[in-house]
Amino acid sequence: MITFDNVYLRAFRPDEVETLRAIERSARSRYAELDGFAAVVQASPIAPERFLSGETVVAEINGKACGYVLMQPLDGMMYIANIMVEPAASGRGVGARLLASVQSRATELNLSAIALTTFKSPRWNGPWFRKAGFTRMPEDRIGDGLAAILLRHATFLDMSTRETLWKKLGGKHPGGLAQSLPSALSQG
Ligand SMILES: CC(C)(COP(=O)(O)OP(=O)(O)OC[C@H]1O[C@@H](n2cnc3c(N)ncnc32)[C@H](O)[C@@H]1OP(=O)(O)O)[C@@H](O)C(=O)NCCC(=O)NCCS
Repeated sequence: MITFDNVYLRAFRPDEVETLRAIERSARSRYAELDGFAAVVQASPIAPERFLSGETVVAEINGKACGYVLMQPLDGMMYIANIMVEPAASGRGVGARLLASVQSRATELNLSAIALTTFKSPRWNGPWFRKAGFTRMPEDRIGDGLAAILLRHATFLDMSTRETLWKKLGGKHPGGLAQSLPSALSQG
């Protein structure tokens, strides 16, 4: 039986990019059960070079990779670019362990918060992060880096279905730049 305890986290290896992209494809397949998310199911997985832009932690069960998180410091916070767990390994705390690894790394780097953007509705998106202590990030705390990501998302996503969440940490870095967001990025 798979338990929380036999999940093993380790650093990413450059030769496993395609394995992680396959995990993303598989993780995204769960959106097929919902109306209106076909584009998410069909979307190409993350470009290989994105793994160079941050740090990736891989989760293994019995020696086989089943999930990962890609994080990168951004605007003084730790931004979660991707967190993916295969459906077959889901619901056993693998995602929670990956999230805990992000929090440890952000704390180690003295960052002020963890930040991410996600869909509001599927229970494994906004609701899952909220259960883990995330809340909506005030717009005046969204810094230049995150605003640029949101602008890119606005070119292919309906931003009214999205939310930007954060979990504040004790780090001293000031975080966002208190700028105004373009109204096109308003997330309702
Ligand atoms: C979001 C995601 C990474 C979560 O991964 P996960 O491994 O399923 O997460 P967890 O197992 O930690 O938590 C899932 C549920 O299992 C429960 N759980 C935790 N440990 C458990 C255990 N030992 N046994 C049974 N259930 C457990 C959790 O309480 C949680 O319950 P919930 O469904 O009521 O929220 C995963 O759903 C995923 O890959 N989704 C698709 C990609 C995606 O949307 N990523 C987020 C993009 S912003």
